Amino acid sequence: VRRTNPDAMAASGTWPAPEETPLLAETAVHVWRASLDLSPPRLADLAVVLDDEERARAARFHFEPDRRRFVAAHGLLRRTLARYLDVDPRSIRYQSGPYGKPSLADHDQLDLRFNLAHSGKIALVAVGIGREIGVDVELIRPDIVTLDVAKQFFAPGEVRALGSLPAAERTGAFFCCWTRKEAYIKARGEGLSAPLDSFEVSVRPVEPAALVWCAAGDEERVRWSLRALDVSSEYAGAVAAEGHDWTLFCWDADRWLI
Ligand SMILES: CC(C)(COP(=O)(O)OP(=O)(O)OC[C@H]1O[C@@H](n2cnc3c(N)ncnc32)[C@H](O)[C@@H]1OP(=O)(O)O)[C@@H](O)C(=O)NCCC(=O)NCCS
Repeated sequence: VRRTNPDAMAASGTWPAPEETPLLAETAVHVWRASLDLSPPRLADLAVVLDDEERARAARFHFEPDRRRFVAAHGLLRRTLARYLDVDPRSIRYQSGPYGKPSLADHDQLDLRFNLAHSGKIALVAVGIGREIGVDVELIRPDIVTLDVAKQFFAPGEVRALGSLPAAERTGAFFCCWTRKEAYIKARGEGLSAPLDSFEVSVRPVEPAALVWCAAGDEERVRWSLRALDVSSEYAGAVAAEGHDWTLFCWDADRWLI
């Protein structure tokens, strides 16, 4: 596997598009951004790497665009993991955590951890070594942003922070808060079993992404750290990972995974 030195490419709002697989240090988290809007040949190329279970899930979608995006996201995930592991993407086997979080069933030597998120036409794949990771991306939909919706999903302090903002800043803050919360839940792997009001994140886009309060205690805030992702003007994103000793690198997958 040819590798580039990522030192010059730390996340800075740009998403460089390397042709080679960047070296993944233990102190790094890599987030790959990929388009799900693919040509039929590219899609066919990804469909061939899926396993029987993924094919069966794909077949259950009622709408063709949803099926295509599922195939693209899961094909891209397999190809991404295969590059780091230096294996055939078809040989990768997953196992599920108690609330459905997928992880690698084999390849323990590298202790590669990952998480996938997809929304609209974008997928993000986050990878790291030896630390749990969660990533989220959401298409920004101003129509769903109301304080009533926030009350349903956010903690009281987050709702107050959102309510105190000028209306023009609310949509951005709503999706910042949403993706930060979701990235944390996904890192913990708890899915919908996690009470969304049992922890608070920073809400405004200008604030560094952070867990600001956890009902479970301060150990949780010490255990995890969050980073906002500058995905594009149409999408909000965030990543959460164990520890505070990691550097975020963001990459565009479109050239790398051809
Ligand atoms: C399972 C869950 C992760 C799905 O989240 P989502 O936003 O619908 O979807 P995302 O694109 O972010 O992530 C989906 C991927 O995460 C992975 N995943 C599945 N279960 C997971 C879990 N328990 N933990 C972490 N990752 C999980 C899978 O790879 C999944 O891909 P697939 O559905 O194509 O198989 C779950 O956290 C959820 O439904 N959360 C919604 C909670 C909510 O209401 N949040 C409101 C805003 S805070």
